[in-house]
Amino acid sequence: MSERPDPAVRVVLDPDRASSSLVADVRRGLGSAPRTLPPKWLYDDHGSVLFDQITRLPEYYPTEAERSLLSEHAADIASITGAPTVVELGSGTSDKTRTLLDAFDAGGSLRRFVPVDVSEATLREAAVMLSQRYPELSVEPLAGDFTLHLGHLPTGDRKLVAFLGGTIGNFYVEERAAFLGALADSLEPGDWLLLGTDVVKEADRLVAAYHDSAGVTEQFILNSLTVLNRELGADFDLEAFSYVPFWDPAMERIDMRLRAESPQLVTLPGADLVVELAAGEEIRVEISTKFRPEKLRRELAEGGFAVEHLWTDGDFALTLARREG
Ligand code: SAH
Ligand code: AVI
Repeated sequence: MSERPDPAVRVVLDPDRASSSLVADVRRGLGSAPRTLPPKWLYDDHGSVLFDQITRLPEYYPTEAERSLLSEHAADIASITGAPTVVELGSGTSDKTRTLLDAFDAGGSLRRFVPVDVSEATLREAAVMLSQRYPELSVEPLAGDFTLHLGHLPTGDRKLVAFLGGTIGNFYVEERAAFLGALADSLEPGDWLLLGTDVVKEADRLVAAYHDSAGVTEQFILNSLTVLNRELGADFDLEAFSYVPFWDPAMERIDMRLRAESPQLVTLPGADLVVELAAGEEIRVEISTKFRPEKLRRELAEGGFAVEHLWTDGDFALTLARREG
């Protein structure tokens, strides 16, 4: 075991989540029609553990598909980019990322790894694991929000920003455009983006991936109400809601909702909000957009990124794009 001290986590998140963007997000999302909640609040400690379980479900193919693509192409990615700094947005456990870091390690170019996540406990644990596995690597975890804190990414070195898992699909279309634009603004021309995206496929496989037989995804989505009960003193009765996932073929996305099975009067004192839900009324907790290669190329180009490689096995895609000058 290495004698290295554990990496220090730089925290740029507001320490008092309940008084900050959660309140604004909840007022905006639950106070309007259709009712929504932003997915970043799914990832408290328990939500992060549930997501990790999701990645191991037999129906949830994206994680293993992306891992295979990374194994196949990591050496190319390391040699093409030769980046001394790798940043990972929404890094979670950084489990698959080890494949990438192994290839960079073998190539000898990598000096620094900056995992960025809102889930501080998961980030801390991953950073300790990585700093022990790569003794020469400077591991510099950033507890931050990739919709707010891209200005805190390191500057100077040539960078590769990895955004894996298909997490970009959890943004709404206008949020996606804003995110790509903000990311391009935070990078230098010539920096790299490695983007993992899920691919449009048959509806039954897609729905199964988000409606697993063990019910873990249902618990993950319901956990959003537990977060509101704890952080805002809300009184959601979890038993009164059922999980309704479906494939929206027009938007090419999985839509994950919670439906009130009977009328619900919910009080959220921390947000100074009372929400009246009719029987059958739904809250959209998360979407997961799937991409065709043409759409991906177009959106990346609009965001200021030129696609240099797009690798896919038909189920999932890994795109290596360059920030245009
Ligand atoms: N990249 C990993 C984890 C994906 S799960 C994988 O491919 O398996 C999505 C991750 O993004 C979670 O770890 C969650 O905590 C993080 N996340 C969600 N919204 C975020 C935000 N706005 N800013 C930073 N991290 C966020
Ligand atoms: C993190 N993100 C890419 C996952 C997805 O597939 O959209 C989140 C998830 N939600 C339910 N299952 C997985």
